[in-house]
Amino acid sequence: MASIKSSIPSRRFDAAIIGAGGSGMRAALQLAEAGLNVAVLSKVFPTRSHTVAAQGGIGASLGNMSEDNWYWHMFDTVKGSDYLGDQDAIEFMCREAPKVVYELEHFGMPFDRNPDGTIYQRPFGGHTANFGEKPVQRACAAADRTGHAMLHTLYQRNVRAKTHFFVEWMAIDLVRNQDGDVLGVVALEMETGDVMVLEAKTTVFATGGAGRIWAASTNAFINTGDGMGMAARAGLPLEDMEFWQFHPTGVAGAGVLITEGVRGEGGILINSEGERFMERYAPTLKDLAPRDFVSRSMDQEIKEGRGCGPKKNHVLLDLRHIGADTIRKRLPSILEIGHKFANVDATKEPIPVVPTIHYQMGGIPTNIHGQVVAPKNGGQEIVRGLYAIGECACVSVHGANRLGTNSLLDLLVFGRAAGNHIVASKLREQSHQNLPADGADLALSRLAHLEASTGSERVQDVANDIRSAMQHYCGVFRTQELLDEGVREIMQLDERRKQVSFKDKSKVFNTARVEALELDNLIETAKATIVSAAARKESRGAHAHRDHEHRDDEHWMKHTLWFSEGNRLDYKPVVTKPLTVETFKPKARTF
Ligand code: FUM
Repeated sequence: MASIKSSIPSRRFDAAIIGAGGSGMRAALQLAEAGLNVAVLSKVFPTRSHTVAAQGGIGASLGNMSEDNWYWHMFDTVKGSDYLGDQDAIEFMCREAPKVVYELEHFGMPFDRNPDGTIYQRPFGGHTANFGEKPVQRACAAADRTGHAMLHTLYQRNVRAKTHFFVEWMAIDLVRNQDGDVLGVVALEMETGDVMVLEAKTTVFATGGAGRIWAASTNAFINTGDGMGMAARAGLPLEDMEFWQFHPTGVAGAGVLITEGVRGEGGILINSEGERFMERYAPTLKDLAPRDFVSRSMDQEIKEGRGCGPKKNHVLLDLRHIGADTIRKRLPSILEIGHKFANVDATKEPIPVVPTIHYQMGGIPTNIHGQVVAPKNGGQEIVRGLYAIGECACVSVHGANRLGTNSLLDLLVFGRAAGNHIVASKLREQSHQNLPADGADLALSRLAHLEASTGSERVQDVANDIRSAMQHYCGVFRTQELLDEGVREIMQLDERRKQVSFKDKSKVFNTARVEALELDNLIETAKATIVSAAARKESRGAHAHRDHEHRDDEHWMKHTLWFSEGNRLDYKPVVTKPLTVETFKPKARTF
């Protein structure tokens, strides 16, 4: 393989951020405003990153609608996580929440307002006052376009701060030295096919989730797990990948998200008998119980024959009683989505919905500064030069199940925290390390393999089969038989992936190359998910195991670590000690 210096152009930055969603742009802003030379690389124009699709709000205990405080938010998040979240990180996030929201407000974010001028907050699933006593309004909302408003606000601030954006560039693999320090990435320009090394004193993965390993997903097509794929190929572990959140309300048949904010504004779920069935499953929080709970209840209703429609395969989300004026004011996008994807006027008819894959709780293990940590010599070691933030990271603040609105919060809190930590590390005073001659070999050999392969598989066939397999074998409810079969199927798909080639080599578009590179990332996240799920013999949060129906704190109160090499698993303890307050001890989760 050719050496880096002689064959590939390179550009130097203090920091390279891979991904321009909420966490990437929040980190970039912190760095650029501190005068660092920052590159943000994105497969799409920054304001089209998947954060744009977040609808309902940002969780923060501002207390604008009624009394609230960060400690109640922390309790809800720990309980929501089914006690798998690390309580030090959760305390940090909930305490920081009001600060990051007020910062956004001062950046110009167009939040909805109360008559007294304060930020409007709506109820959301699992958010309560006084440790579960009653629902509280904690979601800071910009209508049902909160992620959209946030992304535009952050982009404009970054432009002002002179962040360098590399738009329609895809990171292929990390560049590391002999000691494992990260020195940047090899990246591909999607339009021209040019390859470049982005040399960076610090590299930050902010690549989002891998929701596209599933057939029915609320996720954008760009969510192919690129950060996780790069980490796995670099020998780093992926944490808690068995925990995937099904959002209760994806439009049936289309997968498009209908925000939980609809239920926050008073919308209810009904079955074929017109019954508001969540009253039976969660007498206190009803339709606003956490997502794992609501999704399982919906699935149960459908399995017991109370589903709606000719195939009895969905339930209905009824918001008619909210009133057309409130729907138009607070939920304008939902009206539009109802029209376009379900052919209903939501002011007059309910929307057909099913639980749909939405969010991965796991990811690349990090500490609260966003630094990537990996096991070494029986302990944990920081991977020098590499941070991960947002959905691709696992801090772990979401544990086995995330609360709605804690995703946008996670992006802001840990994007900012990583930025601050990098600034404090005095990057400007450090010099770039020399690149090893073989530093680009992994990326270049993957590109070369694609051009030379004579295999008989097509990228889209393998990708679609991964999605069908994950959907079939790893759904809302799991069994050992299904999971074991799923592991076999996904491992066979990994073999098929190696046989992918382009049919007519004289006419390969770069978009096809990008899809083939993404396939390598999809398979790493699919393997991590199904292997981790097959090993966990309990039910916790989003991992609902029919053969092990109860949470087993004695044996399974631990985080999973999956390694691509050898398809191997390891485990590490949950951090139960918060930073300053008492531990929340595990209890039965009732709502
Ligand atoms: O339902 C929603 O608006 C999604 C929010 C979230 O995933 O936090």
